[in-house]
Amino acid sequence: MTIIEQPIEVDGEKLMQFVFRAVDEVGATLNTALVVMGDKLGLYRALAGAGGLSPMELAERTGTAERYVREWLNAQAAGGYVTYDADSGRYALPPEQAVALTDSDSPAYLPGFFQIALGSVLDSPKIADRARTGDGFGWDEHVHDVHEGCERFFRPGYNAHLTAEWLPALDGVIDKLDQGALVADIGCGHGASTILMAKAFRLSTFVGSDCHAGSIETARERAQAAGVADRVKFEIGPAAEHPGTGYDLVTMFDCLHDMGDPVGAARHVRSTLSENGTWMIVEPKAGDRVEDNLNPVGRAYYAFSTLLCTPASLSQDVGLALGAQAGEARIHDVVQAGGFTRFRRVAETPFNLVFEARP
Ligand SMILES: C[S@@+](CC[C@H](N)C(=O)[O-])C[C@H]1O[C@@H](n2cnc3c(N)ncnc32)[C@H](O)[C@@H]1O
Repeated sequence: MTIIEQPIEVDGEKLMQFVFRAVDEVGATLNTALVVMGDKLGLYRALAGAGGLSPMELAERTGTAERYVREWLNAQAAGGYVTYDADSGRYALPPEQAVALTDSDSPAYLPGFFQIALGSVLDSPKIADRARTGDGFGWDEHVHDVHEGCERFFRPGYNAHLTAEWLPALDGVIDKLDQGALVADIGCGHGASTILMAKAFRLSTFVGSDCHAGSIETARERAQAAGVADRVKFEIGPAAEHPGTGYDLVTMFDCLHDMGDPVGAARHVRSTLSENGTWMIVEPKAGDRVEDNLNPVGRAYYAFSTLLCTPASLSQDVGLALGAQAGEARIHDVVQAGGFTRFRRVAETPFNLVFEARP
C-alpha cells in the first residue's frame, strides 16, 4: 500500500506567535535563577523602600560587583520586576514587588517558590535519566534548594490560613487544641506547620515525622529556635511507621500524594487516631480531570509533579504516584481505602485543597 503524505500547512503568523511566547518563557526560566540570586545577595531587600538606586549604589549597599548588578538590574527591569528611570539611570522596586520579594510574613512572598523551582530544574537531568528507566528519585536525593525552597514556599500560606481558616473549619478541633490535644504532623519536612500549630496551641503536644533525615534535623533546630521543643518532638521515619497512638488530630501538608503507599499511610493514620479523632489532609489545588487543571497553577504543579512528586512516590514501595494534581476524587478513594467513613472538603485557596477525614 502506498502512503501519500499530506503537506502540513503551517500558519506562519501562529508559528511566530509561538516563537515569541517561547522567548518570554526562556526569559522567565532564566529569571528563576536571577530571583534566587537577588534573594541570596540581598539585592531586593536593599532596593525595597530605597527609592531609586543606581547599579553602583546597589552594589555598594550589598557588597557586590557593580558590573554584575547592572546586568541583573536590566534583566529585572525588562521583566517588570523593577522600574528603570532613564533620566537618572536609577532602578526602583515597586511596593507590590517589594512585598512579594522581601516580606517573608506575607502570603504573597515568592522567593521560596523560585528556590524550589530552581532546585527542581537543577536536578532535572537526573529525573530525565529516571524517566528512561521508570525508576523513582527520592526526596532525600534532591539538592538543598528543593528542601529549603519547599519550606519557604509553603510557610507563608500556612501562616495565612492554617490557624485562621483551616483548623477552625474542622469539626470540634479548635476546642480540643485549646484544651490540650495530641497531634501528629506526618511528612512534616522542616516542621513549619508543626511549629506554627505548637505556637498557637500551648497546651497541646505534637509529634512530627518525615522519612527525610535531613529535614527532621532542620525541624528540630527550628523547634528549638522557636522555643517549643518541650512540646514538639520530631522523628525520622515513613508515614506508615509514625510512632504513637490516641491522636486527636493527624495532619498531612502537601505530602500524601508524594508517598509511595498513601493507602498504607491512611491505614496507619486510622489505627493511630482516637475514635473521635480527625485527619486533616492539605493537598495542592486540583480538579479531578486533566482538563480542569490546564491553567497557570496546574501548569506549575504538573511541572513540580514531574520533577519532584511523581519521582518521589515511585522511589518508594508500591509507587502509586498519585501526582500533585490528584484531585479530590482520588484523595477520597485513598482515604476510604484506608478505613475512613467520613470525608469532606472543608476549605480551599487558589493553591490548596483542605480535607477532613473521620473514622
Ligand atoms: C512537598 S514536601 C512537604 C513538606 C512539609 N509537609 C511542608 O508542608 O513543608 C513532602 C514531604 O513528604 C515527605 N515524604 C514523602 N514520602 C513520605 C513517606 N512515605 N513518609 C513520610 N514522609 C514522606 C518528604 O520527605 C517531604 O518532606
